[in-house]
Amino acid sequence: MSEEFTIAPAVTSDASGLVALRAAVAAEGEFLVAEAGESAWPLDAMIARVRAATGAPSSEAPARCLYVARGRHRVVGFIEVQPGAFRRNRHVGYVEVMVAADWRGRGVGRALMDRALEWASRSPLQKLALSVYAHNAPAIALYRKLGFEEEGRRVAEYLFPDGSYRDDVLMARFVARKEP
Ligand SMILES: CC(C)(COP(=O)(O)OP(=O)(O)OC[C@H]1O[C@@H](n2cnc3c(N)ncnc32)[C@H](O)[C@@H]1OP(=O)(O)O)[C@@H](O)C(=O)NCCC(=O)NCCS
Repeated sequence: MSEEFTIAPAVTSDASGLVALRAAVAAEGEFLVAEAGESAWPLDAMIARVRAATGAPSSEAPARCLYVARGRHRVVGFIEVQPGAFRRNRHVGYVEVMVAADWRGRGVGRALMDRALEWASRSPLQKLALSVYAHNAPAIALYRKLGFEEEGRRVAEYLFPDGSYRDDVLMARFVARKEP
């Protein structure tokens, strides 16, 4: 049975769901750089992130976006695009996306990416960039489908608890500008 989800800009009441989702994906151990319990995402920091994404952009705080996917009354996915922190890279948006394990493979990730690409096409960003483990085939397939290309690879960038090393793939695409 297919279940419905909606995508919308995050609001502060999503913050606890965002913290829980990030912690759950970290606990899976396969997808994030931080291991379970390693990256503290306190609720007040997440609320600040939501506010930063929904506030009016300025020269001090350039445009960024944070969309959530909600399904069955909980946060089941999110995408965040943050501009570079410096004048020299603030034309680049750094993308992070994740979907709850029990909601994967149902179109949520694709819908989040589509929404962020649409947002980016109306933003001042010129390029979208991300990094992904080389073993994360579902994520790499999704990014390729949306026009992201491999720009490089950091070999053995990460050491896993079992002693194996993993490569980090750098991917990016330029933003297709929407005519006003
Ligand atoms: C990567 C991720 C966001 C994809 O979200 P999703 O909701 O499962 O993806 P969708 O159902 O929208 O699928 C979109 C595309 O992704 C690819 N994909 C999804 N699951 C896949 C799988 N198990 N194997 C291969 N490709 C897969 C396909 O290309 C798919 O396109 P299709 O619908 O035309 O087949 C999700 O798997 C996830 O959150 N993973 C854990 C966190 C993570 O890895 N985040 C990215 C870190 S860089």
